[in-house]
Amino acid sequence: MKDALPIARRADIGPFEAGRIAYGCWRFAGFAPHEAQAKIDAALAIGANLMDTAAVYGGTAGFGGAEKVLGDVIAGSPGLRDQIVLVTKGGIHPPIPYDSRAHTLINSCEASLARLKTDRIDVFLIHRPDLLASYDEVAGALTTLRADGKIRAAGVSNFSPAQIRALQSKLDFPLVATQPEFSPTCVGALEDGSTDIAQELGLALMAWSPLGGGRLVPGARGEPGSVDARVLAVLEEIAHRNEVGVDHAALAWVLAHPATGFALIGTQSPERITASARAYDVQMTRRDWYAVLEAAKGTSMP
Ligand SMILES: NC(=O)c1ccc[n+]([C@@H]2O[C@H](COP(=O)([O-])OP(=O)(O)OC[C@H]3O[C@@H](n4cnc5c(N)ncnc54)[C@H](OP(=O)(O)O)[C@@H]3O)[C@@H](O)[C@H]2O)c1
Repeated sequence: MKDALPIARRADIGPFEAGRIAYGCWRFAGFAPHEAQAKIDAALAIGANLMDTAAVYGGTAGFGGAEKVLGDVIAGSPGLRDQIVLVTKGGIHPPIPYDSRAHTLINSCEASLARLKTDRIDVFLIHRPDLLASYDEVAGALTTLRADGKIRAAGVSNFSPAQIRALQSKLDFPLVATQPEFSPTCVGALEDGSTDIAQELGLALMAWSPLGGGRLVPGARGEPGSVDARVLAVLEEIAHRNEVGVDHAALAWVLAHPATGFALIGTQSPERITASARAYDVQMTRRDWYAVLEAAKGTSMP
């Protein structure tokens, strides 16, 4: 289709390059090593070599549980560490909930390195803004971690554009990434400046929960009249025409936006990881893309 929106397969994040469908490890804790290995292998096979995790991810396994599982896979797979772009986050400490004081961020990063069984984090993100931490202090911690070689690059998650600019103003190196929630049912990033600041500063935007955390999947219908139901109806039409699942159509919608660097998928099924690459082949027109947005907003564009 000649007027389909382009969906490139690779993107840059700071000095690194990775597949734009990336693997999110939020739901990763508690799996046996061979199960975790199967997910990572499936991700790498579709070019998804960016792995996103966080100190706080762990579910029932508790704080650090997800990093530990990924670290065991890294330790058990010679050469794997050099194949992946490793992203982790610090700064959330339930029930405080946020602590980005310099010593806390540095200790958190060092604990992540130990759990991940590696000597460096490729991109270290501040998970959420700590409203009690000064930007000078956060920047100081990132500068120390980078100077010590513990992190190669830094970014943020769930920061507003003003918060990103304030932190950037205190750094003498560029932030490389921002990670907001962004999906066909969570479109705030398009209007709160998140997609604009990413393009302005050259930040790799990593969209979290691109399938609405599991609500935009085959068989889902949503409550009648709800945002989910409206969006699913439009995605189903696009999916049907492209002979893919609604999950793939949703991923394609996220990837088709020019600010999106990466879509962080969170399925724990190796088969679904493999199938997610079908999103790259979706032929989505400008009209399709805007129809999804109109469904999300519940109104036509002016
Ligand atoms: N920075 C932040 O604050 C933040 C917050 C949340 C998430 N994240 C990042 O974003 C990543 C992805 O988040 P997410 O897990 O919410 O992403 P998601 O891809 O939107 O949702 C994943 C959920 O969808 C389900 N699913 C996917 N495909 C399906 C299918 N075909 N049929 C049925 N169910 C399906 C999965 O279940 P199955 O496992 O059964 O397939 C899983 O429960 C996280 O791992 C994390 O890295 C970041």
